[in-house]
Amino acid sequence: MRPLSTVSALAWLGGFQALPVNAIQTISTVGSKFFHEDGTQYFLKGIAYQLIPDDPLVDTAQCKRDFALMAELGTNAIRVYHVDPKANHDGCMEALAAAGIYLFVDLDTFDTSINQDKPQWTHSQFERYKAVLDEFQKYNNTAGVFVGNEVINTKEGSAAAPYVLAAAHDIKSYRNEKGYRNIPVGYSAADIAELRPMLQNYLACRPDSADRLDFFSLNAYEWCGPSSYETSGYKRLQSQASDYPIPIFFSETGCNAARPRTFEDQAAIFGPEMANTWSGSMIYEWIQEANDYGLIKYGPPSGASPDKMLVQDGFPRQGEPIPVDPDFHNLKAQWARLRPTGVALSDYIKSTSSIKPASCPTSTPGGWAVDSHQPLPTLQRATSDVAAAGPNPGSGSGPDSGSRPEQLSARVTSVAPSDYHSSRAVNGASAGTRGFDRLAGGSLFLCMLIGALALWL
Ligand SMILES: *[C@@H]1O[C@H](CO)[C@@H](O)[C@H](O)[C@H]1NC(C)=O
Repeated sequence: MRPLSTVSALAWLGGFQALPVNAIQTISTVGSKFFHEDGTQYFLKGIAYQLIPDDPLVDTAQCKRDFALMAELGTNAIRVYHVDPKANHDGCMEALAAAGIYLFVDLDTFDTSINQDKPQWTHSQFERYKAVLDEFQKYNNTAGVFVGNEVINTKEGSAAAPYVLAAAHDIKSYRNEKGYRNIPVGYSAADIAELRPMLQNYLACRPDSADRLDFFSLNAYEWCGPSSYETSGYKRLQSQASDYPIPIFFSETGCNAARPRTFEDQAAIFGPEMANTWSGSMIYEWIQEANDYGLIKYGPPSGASPDKMLVQDGFPRQGEPIPVDPDFHNLKAQWARLRPTGVALSDYIKSTSSIKPASCPTSTPGGWAVDSHQPLPTLQRATSDVAAAGPNPGSGSGPDSGSRPEQLSARVTSVAPSDYHSSRAVNGASAGTRGFDRLAGGSLFLCMLIGALALWL
């Protein structure tokens, strides 16, 4: 009897301690920005992470080694392009959360992505996208999903845009129907000069927020080596995004044409010229492989022999991450000194009513080839109206929802939408007290347990 009760007491204690350790605030979009639950703005300092083609989020030991070093680098987001929705991701997602890192994950896989040359959006694609969302919506540190990566990769490809937007519409509709958290749904675009800013605007211009992305992101390698805001092209990117109604960020950046990489573009992105418009950037990429963009390479984990390591295409894809220098430390130094605070949600919310959808691009011969007013090739009817009426407001993340600030704030605070300001304050205070209570309660409980054990013995 004695051993049993001691064991169960310890198990209880173990469970109690495990609870708050990996708590991480969810991320929501409001207007053109990302916010934490406490109303502070979220800027991505991200890294592309795809060690192996199928799914890098299944090897917990590897995740722990990588995410510990990423935290040291100052990372707060990773992007993963391919995952297996049937695998178990608990270990890696917990390791990510413990390091304070959010996940942006692509919903498509190699055989389900939308194809520019033969664009379509089918039920079988949708089923696979749903499966990835079903799996990753469980985790509070899933900060966003992509419906595509560089689907359109030539200037002739704009006819695929309605399929990308249809996928976004359907996955948002599915998210709302399932009552999932409003995980932001976005697209990661190739940087095609001839389609700028038409593609960007097309994806955020329709009157109903159900027919717009929740965020847009760009893979841009315009800034190489010594350059500047003016000469790199970033000034033009900024001018084309300054009134953009939804969050926008670099989903890939980090040109490697000039060595070593100094990441000076980060100072522009997180500085006064751009930080009011852009929500940060993701550096391509973590692992060193043939394309030579790696921030780390792998050595054998301590105690293991090199021949046990997973190697593909001549590059180890597992083991102890070793910084590729000086690049790694250059990036670390940049991020350490760039700490934009942005705007508090309580201040920002007042201005969201003036945010308007982007203006829809007009089609031109030989250029942008889509009529913005044609119906989308969706598979699902929008459920945003239904969801917006319920306790889990639907796709209210877009521009015209600025006229309903109560719903926006409700999404972030998860409290009754009736009184934004008081609920914000109450929620903020209670979050603080909750942390304190846990601490105090934990020590109190520990004291009682030790006392009880001492008495007993
Ligand atoms: C996830 O977030 C919700 C809402 O903030 C919170 O109630 C829940 O405890 C969190 N889950 C974990 C595992 O931290």
